[in-house]
Amino acid sequence: MKKSAVNTLFGILALAALLLSSCDRNAPNEESTQPQGNETAAARSEAVDLPVESEQNDGAGVSEPVSAAGTEPAESGTSEETPEKAGGAVLIVYFSHTGNTKPVAEYIQGLVGGDLVRLEPASPYPEGYSAALDPAKQEQRENARPKLKTSIEHFDSYETVYLGYPIWWGTVPMLINTFLESYDFSGKTVVPFATSGGTGISQSIQDIRSEVPDAEVKDGLLVKNNKDIIPWLRKLGLYE
Ligand SMILES: Cc1cc2nc3c(=O)[nH]c(=O)nc-3n(C[C@H](O)[C@H](O)[C@H](O)COP(=O)(O)O)c2cc1C
Repeated sequence: MKKSAVNTLFGILALAALLLSSCDRNAPNEESTQPQGNETAAARSEAVDLPVESEQNDGAGVSEPVSAAGTEPAESGTSEETPEKAGGAVLIVYFSHTGNTKPVAEYIQGLVGGDLVRLEPASPYPEGYSAALDPAKQEQRENARPKLKTSIEHFDSYETVYLGYPIWWGTVPMLINTFLESYDFSGKTVVPFATSGGTGISQSIQDIRSEVPDAEVKDGLLVKNNKDIIPWLRKLGLYE
């Protein structure tokens, strides 16, 4: 009898010890949910500054737009890290006088990968918006083909050419015509995008189509907000 009472006592003590140790294990866990939650919120609020804020849920390209952005042509390693995208070898080429089109081109490169090239005129336009107005108008009146300083290596190897520019006097800057006439676009896909002070993109698309009739020129996007880019690319079948 005595022995069984001792056994029962040991049993109770063992149970009590087990309960206490299980409480100890739970305590840090409960605390740890707080910082985790805060970290998530912090990560989200950082991500709001990233261009892909509205597209994070699908897991596609969350960090790509940031890591791949740059003004220089991407290293081939960038393309390797980028999941295979529709449209074959990709070139993103753009002209940007006052700097608005440049970040759009970088953003697109972040999404679709490929090489990024900035087109520069052989004779720079006068700096700033107002100073460029007259020379640009003059070029348009004369249907000029201003010389390019930039040349693109292995242009033949690209299948899809994203082409970015500011709208100048209702259409592409004449420098874009120079570019379109400098390379063989037959069989290539051209994906135009532009920024402007309000004028639409349609006249410029028409002009690009007549410059490169043997290319497939997609419906371009006048970029007012980077959030419009992924839906546009998806519609074109160029981004999953
Ligand atoms: C020479 C010149 C002509 C322009 N013509 C137009 C135009 O016809 N319509 C318009 O909405 N904006 C026009 N703009 C404004 C630019 O399209 C707009 O500021 C654009 O975002 C500039 O891009 P960038 O900073 O990449 O050069 C013109 C700007 C310049 C300098």
